Amino acid sequence: MAENVRVLVPEKEVAARIEELGRKISEDYAGKQVHLICVLKGGVFFMCELAKRISVPVSMDFMSVSSYGDGTSSSGVVKIAKDLDESLEGKDVLIVEDIIDSGRTLYYLMEILSKRNPKSMRLCTLLDKPERRVKDVKVDYVGFNIPDEFVVGYGLDYAQKYRNLPFIGVVEGVE
Ligand code: IMP
Ligand code: MG
Repeated sequence: MAENVRVLVPEKEVAARIEELGRKISEDYAGKQVHLICVLKGGVFFMCELAKRISVPVSMDFMSVSSYGDGTSSSGVVKIAKDLDESLEGKDVLIVEDIIDSGRTLYYLMEILSKRNPKSMRLCTLLDKPERRVKDVKVDYVGFNIPDEFVVGYGLDYAQKYRNLPFIGVVEGVE
């Protein structure tokens, strides 16, 4: 059976929700500058769209992490593959992620970044699968809570494919 992607969240709904999140973030950070941190690669589409909807001053930085694991399960202990270019000292940091699943990646990442003395640190994710949570992470802004299904699109991949889909979909027809 050929792979097929079923639409879970259509493009228009994603765009509308990101606009709402941008408005809320702009209100919450009124009078401040928000320093967005994109977790590559999945967070990149979301961060670009979100940044355009935020009306307070924005700066951006990027990092890439991979988790140590035995191939079948990830320990969640993250290795920084590409670190941030700038210091977080005194900044109002907002981490922008594509999806929170077990929560392991973000749990460890926030532990690492909080030691760099940001003034504040919050977390924004496009998607959340709360049923799958293993590590307790506080998520401040959520685009959509979704069921326990493997999703692609809007930055999310299946074997590096489908990141460019403009909607959130579920891959069908794979083993
Ligand atoms: P966590 O550490 O289990 O929360 O894993 C988070 C990471 O796993 C995300 O940043 C994604 O890279 C990946 N991931 C988790 N669920 C999905 C999914 O449904 N589709 C694509 N990637 C996913
Ligand atoms: Mg990710």
